[in-house]
Formats: sequence, C-alpha cells, structure tokens
Amino acid sequence: MLQFTRLLTLVPTVFLLFPHAISASSPRLVSSRGSTLSGTITVGQNGTELFYTDSGPPASDSYVTFFAVHGLGFDEGIFQKVQALMQTSGARFVAINRRDYPHSTPYSAAEISVIINGTDSERTQFSTARGVELLTFMSQFIVQKGLSPISADGLTGGIVLIGWSLGNPLPLAAVGSIDKVPSSMQKQLASYMRGLIMQEPAPNILGLPTPAQNWAPLIDTSFPAVDQIPMFNIWVTSYFQQGDLSTRDLNQLSWVVPAVFREPSIFNMTPSQFNSIVLNGTNVVNDLLTVLNFGPQLLLNYQQSNFNTTIRNLLPSMRNSLICGDVSLAFSIAAFWDVEDDNEAAGGGFVSFDLVEGVNHFIHWDNPETAKNVYLASVER
Ligand SMILES: *[C@@H]1O[C@H](CO)[C@@H](O)[C@H](O)[C@H]1NC(C)=O
Ligand SMILES: *[C@@H]1O[C@H](CO)[C@@H](O)[C@H](O)[C@H]1NC(C)=O
Ligand SMILES: *[C@@H]1O[C@H](CO)[C@@H](O)[C@H](O)[C@H]1NC(C)=O
Ligand SMILES: *[C@@H]1O[C@H](CO)[C@@H](O)[C@H](O)[C@H]1NC(C)=O
Repeated sequence: MLQFTRLLTLVPTVFLLFPHAISASSPRLVSSRGSTLSGTITVGQNGTELFYTDSGPPASDSYVTFFAVHGLGFDEGIFQKVQALMQTSGARFVAINRRDYPHSTPYSAAEISVIINGTDSERTQFSTARGVELLTFMSQFIVQKGLSPISADGLTGGIVLIGWSLGNPLPLAAVGSIDKVPSSMQKQLASYMRGLIMQEPAPNILGLPTPAQNWAPLIDTSFPAVDQIPMFNIWVTSYFQQGDLSTRDLNQLSWVVPAVFREPSIFNMTPSQFNSIVLNGTNVVNDLLTVLNFGPQLLLNYQQSNFNTTIRNLLPSMRNSLICGDVSLAFSIAAFWDVEDDNEAAGGGFVSFDLVEGVNHFIHWDNPETAKNVYLASVER
C-alpha cells in the first residue's frame, strides 16, 4: 500500500505537522457508547497496558468472544456498531486499542528507535513482544471474565481473533508467537482459540510484494503533506466499482477512483464519532513504519500463523479465514488473491475465504449486521 521511497519524504513533514505523533494521546470517554464496558489489562513489564471496550457477556453461560484489532488511524471505536449487536446474538465482542492508541501504553523511546532504526533481529524481537502482549491480553481476559473454553461439541465457547486492515500484523504476530509463551499459556489458549480472521489486509501488510498498480493518497506526494492523511481517511472509506473479479486480474481493479453509488463510510459519522474514532495525524506515522520497516517479520508471522503445521497444531481448534468486500479497495482484493494462491501452494485447507458482496473496507461500520453474520459464520463452518 505504501512505498518506502515516498514515505521518506512524508515522514519528516508529518513529524513537523503532528509533533505529538510519538507521545501519549489524551484520555477520552466512551460514555456515549451506551452499555459498552471498558478497561485496561496489564500485558507486559513496566506496566504496559492495552485498553479495550467490551459488549459484556450475553445471556447464555457459554458463548464465543471476539477480540478485534483496529487498523491505521481508526481506533477501537470503529467496531462499536458491530460490537453493539453481539450481546443479543449470543456472543461477546471486545475491541482493543493497539499500543500508541488512546489509553493503551505509548511506545517507549527504545521501542520507537527499533521501529525507526532497528536491526532485523531487534525488529523480530519487537514483533514477537507485541504478539506476546496480545496473547497475554487474551489469557488475562479469559481468567478475569471467567470465559468458557470451547465446548466438547465445538459449537460454543472459546475466542476468535480478528485483525482488520493494518491491524492484521498484531494477531498474526500473536499466533506466530504461540510457541514463545509458557506452555501453561499455550495449553490454556489451545482450549479457547476457535478462529483467526484476517479482514482486508493489503499485500504488504502480510509482507507480500505491493502490486505495481498500487496507489493511495498517503503515498502521493503531489498532495500537500497536510492533506495526505485527511484525504486518505476519505478515500479509504470509499466504495470501488471493481471489474470482473473472476478473472483474478489486477488490471480489472479500480486502484484510484472511488465509485459514486454509495457515500464513503466517513460521511455517516457524527462529528463526535469522527472526533473520537479518527486519528488523522497522531500515531499514524509509527504505525506506517511498523509495516514499511517490518517486511520480513510480517511475512514470517503471516506464513507461520497460517501455513506452519507446528504452529497450527499448537492451536488445533483454530480456523483461519480471510474476509474481503467485493466493492472494497483494490489492495484488499489483491491480498485476497495472494492468500488464495498461498493456501493453494501449501496444499489447501489452511484458510477459508469469504468475498462479501456489496461491502467496502468498513463493513463493521456501514453493514454491521452483515459483519456480525460473517464473523459468527467464520467459526461455524
Ligand atoms: C522497563 O523499563 C526499564 C527502565 O526504563 C528498561 O530498561 C527496560 O528495558 C524496560 N523493559 C521493557 C520490557 O520494556
Ligand atoms: C535514528 O538514527 C539516526 C541516525 O543515526 C539518529 O539521528 C536518530 O536519532 C535515530 N532515531 C531514533 C528514534 O533512534
Ligand atoms: C484532524 O483531527 C483534529 C483532532 O480531532 C481536528 O481538530 C482536525 O480538524 C482534523 N483535521 C481534518 C482535516 O479533519
Ligand atoms: C514451523 O515453525 C516451527 C516453530 O517455530 C519452526 O521450527 C519450523 O522451522 C517451521 N517450519 C517451516 C516449514 O517453516
């Protein structure tokens, strides 16, 4: 999605424009979110915390719990609509803010220096550490809330991890690091982990090559730097009229111009929703660099958590799936085809695929009922 050469010119400008990009965000209330619960869980040394919102338990004793990880520039609040539907559908939905997003611990100076200047092995350690933080989060949440493990018939209980957009690397780092945590935690999570949902990654978010056709306002330096992130936020929430997807031809995709049959998702946010969910400058730069500078780590975690049988056998009940809208961004559809190819090359059966009709990159915002059904169906197949 983003090219390093272009970013080299963007980064210094963005740091000048958004000097708080590397510091903590100020706390905000989630009180406008009805009955949504919220909290933090300590996941590492030095009191490192991850913030979450939680739909709370549904009426039944045994139910599935989803843990969702947000993308670039949109925090956990982007899941609030689908989250609100889960409780009455017999499921629980927890949306987590990644490190550096509101109420979760900002990156330390040492961590930022690894993001920006780290060696390959420092970046591998960084990526494993973030994965272990997410595994710790889920392990702690299970204990604190008394979640039920997967039932004997496999039909209820347990947990499902969702990574959306630039949120994909964190769940993939978590699953890819399952062999790095104590065996007691491995065993605990093995009895809970029902699913890993990859929702609309771009190829480079999985460590795969970026198609030559790729474009995004964030990487187009003909935009004034100050406009790149706000423009990206409008563009990325748009709908795209794609060509004949059965051809699996990258040239059939609309890489630049949005369609006009439906307004971008960002247009139907209230000002207060926009102000609490969209981070149109803060935190975006480090987040970009965790993709641009971490190609080998992203690729390894993607391969390990999907296709490595040693890793898959440590979480034997986990079903992996990839979901994507058919009028979404070209890069999401390109990644969909890439993972289909990799699944095929690995012998098939590692990943299930869902190309969802009529939805864009923000299915959980614009079509929350559909998103709910797609998430629930991912563990029913
Ligand atoms: C905890 O903080 C100390 C002192 O700032 C630092 O040396 C150490 O690396 C930190 N540990 C982690 C895991 O971040
Ligand atoms: C990265 O390296 C450059 C050049 O060595 C140095 O000036 C800069 O302070 C470093 N930045 C961080 C965040 O470590
Ligand atoms: C970006 O977000 C800030 C803080 O919410 C807001 O003041 C500013 O108007 C936003 N800029 C754009 C272009 O939306
Ligand atoms: C699978 O993962 C294990 C554990 O990390 C590793 O030892 C092994 O080399 C991997 N296998 C392949 C084929 O990459």
